[in-house]
Amino acid sequence: MKPRKEWVEKAKKNVALDAVKHVKDGFVVGLGSGSTVAYAIEEIGHKIRREKLHVLGVPTSYQSFMLAIKHGIPITTLEEHPILDLTIDGADQIDDELNLIKGMGGALTREKIVAFASKKLVIVADERKKVKFLGENNHPLPIEVLLFAAQLVMLKIREIGGKSVLREGKGKVGPVITDNGNVIIDSNFGLIHKPAELELKLKSIPGVVETGLFVKMADIVYIGKPDSTEKIERKK
Ligand code: 5RP
Repeated sequence: MKPRKEWVEKAKKNVALDAVKHVKDGFVVGLGSGSTVAYAIEEIGHKIRREKLHVLGVPTSYQSFMLAIKHGIPITTLEEHPILDLTIDGADQIDDELNLIKGMGGALTREKIVAFASKKLVIVADERKKVKFLGENNHPLPIEVLLFAAQLVMLKIREIGGKSVLREGKGKVGPVITDNGNVIIDSNFGLIHKPAELELKLKSIPGVVETGLFVKMADIVYIGKPDSTEKIERKK
């Protein structure tokens, strides 16, 4: 077995290269957030220059905005292009039906809006993210919440079986404040057997801005392994 750090970085690069093959001339592309998609953003920049493409990007976070600028991807907005051809994004967990948990990078709300606006959502991840059921290994579900409602939302989440913590910042005291000026609650529900049901319950709590559950949104997932890449397409 190769040392973990070595194969994981290689796997992330490989899935990013596969995902960027979906980018075509004239496309408006949603740019997800995280360390895996960072490789894809870099490759989109290379591809634009190499193939002289006209491609525009819609970033989902300040991270992807800055990466797009760095790699020479012209930026646009959902105001100008409310329908996107493609989004490439990462994920924190992926179940057998290609439902996702996202948001460990705190960008879940814009990521979900941009994914929803896209004709195709391509997900890139290494195989540590693949699980049978979301919530395995005590993985929390990130939920973006108005600070005004945070305590109330945590109480209501407890009533439906979730244990929540307010995400704390690193490099700054106090809670993480998202790019939208809200806070993140990380809630543990154990194994999530019915993600669509949980999503409905959570979205009915006033103060919840968005959840990191992406139910039946991913069209294609590239899973990077130590020596290969697996492509999985969602059954329609
Ligand atoms: C950010 C996300 C990321 O896509 C997710 O956390 C995966 O990141 P990485 O590729 O660094 O593991 O949802 O909100």
